[in-house]
Amino acid sequence: MECQESEYNNQRKQSQGQRKRFHLYFYLSFTIIIPFSSPLIPLLKPSSSSSSSSSSSSSLHQILSRRFPARACVQDMKGLFKPKPRTPMELVLQTRDLLIFLDQNTETRERKREEKMSELSKQILEMRIVLFGNGQAEPNPDACAHLAREFFKHDTFRLLVVCLPKLDLGARQNATHVLAILQRQRVGGRLIASEYLENNLDLMDVLLPGYEDGDIALTYGAISRECIRHQIVARYVLGSEYMKKFFTYIQIPNFDIASDAQSTFKELLTRHRSTVAEFLSANYDWFFQGYNSQLLQSPSYITRRHAVKLLGDMLLDRSNSAVMVRYVSSLENMRILMNLFRDSNKTIQLDTFHVFKLFVANQKKPPEIISVLVTNRSKLLRFLGDFSIDREDEQFEADKAQVIKEIATLEIIGERSCTDADDCEVES
Ligand SMILES: *[C@@H]1O[C@H](CO)[C@@H](O)[C@H](O)[C@H]1NC(C)=O
Ligand SMILES: *[C@@H]1O[C@H](CO)[C@@H](O)[C@H](O)[C@H]1NC(C)=O
Ligand SMILES: *[C@@H]1O[C@H](CO)[C@@H](O)[C@H](O)[C@H]1NC(C)=O
Repeated sequence: MECQESEYNNQRKQSQGQRKRFHLYFYLSFTIIIPFSSPLIPLLKPSSSSSSSSSSSSSLHQILSRRFPARACVQDMKGLFKPKPRTPMELVLQTRDLLIFLDQNTETRERKREEKMSELSKQILEMRIVLFGNGQAEPNPDACAHLAREFFKHDTFRLLVVCLPKLDLGARQNATHVLAILQRQRVGGRLIASEYLENNLDLMDVLLPGYEDGDIALTYGAISRECIRHQIVARYVLGSEYMKKFFTYIQIPNFDIASDAQSTFKELLTRHRSTVAEFLSANYDWFFQGYNSQLLQSPSYITRRHAVKLLGDMLLDRSNSAVMVRYVSSLENMRILMNLFRDSNKTIQLDTFHVFKLFVANQKKPPEIISVLVTNRSKLLRFLGDFSIDREDEQFEADKAQVIKEIATLEIIGERSCTDADDCEVES
């Protein structure tokens, strides 16, 4: 029996390693696609990413990563696990009966409903203890696997998702933890949830519209993010109408819900890189049109900030290099980024710089882009000359110097080269 959590961590480390290698590879391939002199290569180093996720998701994440401390993975757990009066199968079946009762008997006497509800809360808590341990005893991997198998076999997953809005807050929270950790459960080496969801993709049509319902939004949001850890689910959502709706979801006036939707949106557009690259290539026109007009030019500071950061993350990802080349060859896109430089917020300016430098670094700049850069040369050079950040960042300084140099020496075909940045600044 494997220890799920340690395996999960290993995978994470591996994928982080891959990411680093990907960037290196990316620089190389970028050089081939858009050949430019070696000094410009450092330009393409991605900014250190400081991802901000909503408090609800991070607390769930913390809870999930607290499960199975490392030592639990090497010990034989059987001795530690206090046997429960009921087997996982009984637990799941009883939970299922209660859920069916609550789902179907909406007319029952209040008293009876309350009794059933409190029984259900206890069951959910018991399942939570099986999966997470009780603070003293660690969870028993066999019991976890057994519970997961029963849970998915009888479609209790769907029932619990559908009934979540009816539970009181405490039970709902514990149920969310149960539903989330089940996504990472392996049975016989396979992620059992992934196989289940593959046949039940329509559950995302229950979860994602949760963003339109203030009461359940954060709960369903947290579960959605766990579900899209499975590539098959992410692909389904990327191919759905929900991608358009996210433009609205992440601007919902309720800050917590908007942040949660933002985290899910970011997860969809960054986690499964080959799927994301396929999505962006196939949906380039409407997606970036909406992204530019609704997000990058949103009246909301927070939306603009997240949008320009995520744009940088997407474009600097090696697997999206074709999309990046396309994006930075558009004058319209560059205009939007140049306007974002005017944003009063330093964070936005800095993240804008990390995208803007790609337009400048492109060695196959279309004539209209060269023309605008040359026309606005003195303004840009003055702005970049004064542009500084609070902390020391050698990479940023090196990138900035390269961008300045590139802009200063740009020439429109037929015009004489300007070799000295100071000369250029006084030029009209
Ligand atoms: C949820 O779980 C916690 C322990 O993790 C427990 O203390 C609490 O009573 C549970 N809430 C409900 C409503 O069962
Ligand atoms: C602007 O940027 C800073 C970081 O430079 C950030 O702390 C601040 O909250 C931002 N907010 C606004 C509204 O300008
Ligand atoms: C660039 O310069 C032109 C002409 O001076 C001006 O019309 C235009 O608004 C400038 N563009 C940007 C994005 O600042």
